[in-house]
This record gives sequence, structure tokens and C-alpha cells, in this order.
Amino acid sequence: MHNHRTTITQFIIEEQRHIPGATGDFTSLLNDVVTACKVISNLVNHGALVGVLGAAGSENVQGEDQKKMDVISNEVFLKSNEWAGHLAAMASEEMEEVYQIPSQYPRGKYLMTFDPLDGSSNIDVNVSVGTIFSILRCKGNCVNPSAEDFLQRGTEQVCAGYALYGPSTMMVLTTGRGVNGFTLDQNIGEFVLTHPNMTIPADTREFAINASNMRFWEAPVKRYVDECLAGKEGARGSDFNMRWIASMVAEVHRILTRGGVFMYPLDSKMKAKGVEGKLRLMYEANPMGFIVEQAGGAAITGQHRILDIQPSSLHQRVPVILGSKNEVELIAKYHQEMK
Ligand code: AHG
Ligand code: MN
Ligand code: MN
Repeated sequence: MHNHRTTITQFIIEEQRHIPGATGDFTSLLNDVVTACKVISNLVNHGALVGVLGAAGSENVQGEDQKKMDVISNEVFLKSNEWAGHLAAMASEEMEEVYQIPSQYPRGKYLMTFDPLDGSSNIDVNVSVGTIFSILRCKGNCVNPSAEDFLQRGTEQVCAGYALYGPSTMMVLTTGRGVNGFTLDQNIGEFVLTHPNMTIPADTREFAINASNMRFWEAPVKRYVDECLAGKEGARGSDFNMRWIASMVAEVHRILTRGGVFMYPLDSKMKAKGVEGKLRLMYEANPMGFIVEQAGGAAITGQHRILDIQPSSLHQRVPVILGSKNEVELIAKYHQEMK
């Protein structure tokens, strides 16, 4: 007897039946996103064989050096999603301005933000990278939307997801009804539901932070990490493990799989430069915050819930602390106590 497996297309169609007012546009939009991620996955898999590794020789709006694959993935995402008539506009980490849908194509009712290649500093060393996206409804001007039309709270997201290009390629999605994970079956070219209803354990003994910034951390983060490092003999009474992949997608995926805490907190070095965090609200913190909350975890800046932030600009940065609920709540408590 053949064992039926749920493809991502079947899953999305079934999911759409629960979205009020959905007409089929959403299913079709997600199909295009899935196609884009399959194309990026294929390029990432082939790496040096197809000449996509190395630097592009340019900088993005945040002044970061772009890799060839940052630029290519951005292009793939735009081209896969601009033509079908589901989107009013897109915004990306790799583009300063809102991307308007070319005039020959119809406009749709959704907006999409994305980080085409997250963790791209890892691409040349063959460590996992990913793509992050967030879908919003277009509520204002849906002909030529401006940055203001994108500045909606994370709680307004219709859907968020990421593709992880690791030992296997996976797609993890939420539409606000839990989190589901799909694995790309290269033989049939389809993502298949392999991780239904992903949940983050409330407790963990594993944390992730770039410890090279330790001397710049604020007191609550320093206290939390010090207590983890003190292990069995310290205030927490147990030993902790540490990880840092430098690919947010891979860190969040680990946390969805076995729990943990991920932190890219505000620090004094950022403050001196007048920046409010490392990670970007609209296409990193909000989609990941939505996914993590939907899996039973929590996502905060230290002071506030990420999804409640009223965005002020497209490329706004925020501190990010997310993962296992009880640990994130403890870190929030330290921020309250040490204000
Ligand atoms: P991107 O490659 O899209 O610029 O994002 C990289 C982000 C994130 O994925 C990761 O957690 C963090 O930056 C790594 O920062 P460090 O290089 O400071 O470790
Ligand atoms: Mn990123
Ligand atoms: Mn990126």
C-alpha cells in the first residue's frame, strides 16, 4: 500500500481554508516563494561548481559586504514573486528602497519582506544558510506602496517562514496556526511535511550568543550568561551548553528542534554607533518572532515583545532574545530588575 505524504502545496491549500477572505492568491503566492527557495537551494548546493561563492564586491544599505549569493538570491526572489499578481510590493535586506512590481504585471493584496540569504558570511565555508520571509496585507496604497505601508507590527503578519539550506533543505512555516516543517525531497522536487506541529520545549540548558561581544553587553545579559557559565556550582544549579553558528536561520531551527535561547542583544558598541541592534525587524526579528511564538516560545528585545514593536523604518534594527519560554522570561525579568 502506498504511503501518502503531504506535500507543501497540499498543506498550504488546506491551510488557506482557515484564512478569512482567502481566494487562492495566498496559496499561489506561497507556491512562488517555495519555487524561489528551491532555486536558491539548488544554487547553494552546487556552490563552487556553478561559480556562486565569494564576494560580490558591493555593499548593501546597511554597509555590509555582499556575497555573490546575496545578490543572486535577491534576484531569484524578486523574479519568482513579481509576475503572478499576488503582491503589491516587496522589500529586502539587499535593497534600500521598496521594490515596486514592474508595470507589465498586475498588483495584488499582499506585501512581502525578505532576507534572501541569511548567514551569508557562512556561504564560502559551506555552513548552513537560509532565506527568511514575512507576508503582510497591503492596507493602504496597493498600487505603488511606500515604506510606510510595510511598517506594520509583527502581530499583523499573515505568514512567516524560512528555508534552511543545510544537510537537507527544509521549509518551516506559520500562518498563525502553529509551525510546520517540510523537507525537500530532491527526487520529486517537492517539500514534504516531515515536522508537523513543531514546538519549543519551555526549558533549556543551551544558549547561543556571539561571546566576542561580551565586554560590550548590558548588565542583564551579562548576568544571564555568567550564571549559565557558572554551571552546577552557580545560581542556576546546572551546566549549560553553548552554540554560535552565525546563521540565525540555523540557530532558530535548532531551537525549534530541541529548545534553546538565541541572543543578539543591544550592547554599548552599538549604542556608541547609534544603532539599536544587529538584526533587522522587518525581515529577521518579526518573522522569526512569529514562528518562535507560534511554537510556544517567546521573542523579546529585552524590554519588549518583538511582535508588538511599531516599526519606524524598513531597515530598522532591534535587539533579539528568543527561544525557550521560561529562559526568555528569566532574561526579561533580569531586564526589569536591572533597569
Ligand atoms: P545576514 O547574513 O543576513 O546579514 O545575517 C547575519 C546575521 C544572523 O544570521 C546571525 O545570527 C548574525 O548576523 C551573525 O552575526 P555575527 O557575525 O556578529 O556573529
Ligand atoms: Mn540575516
Ligand atoms: Mn542576508
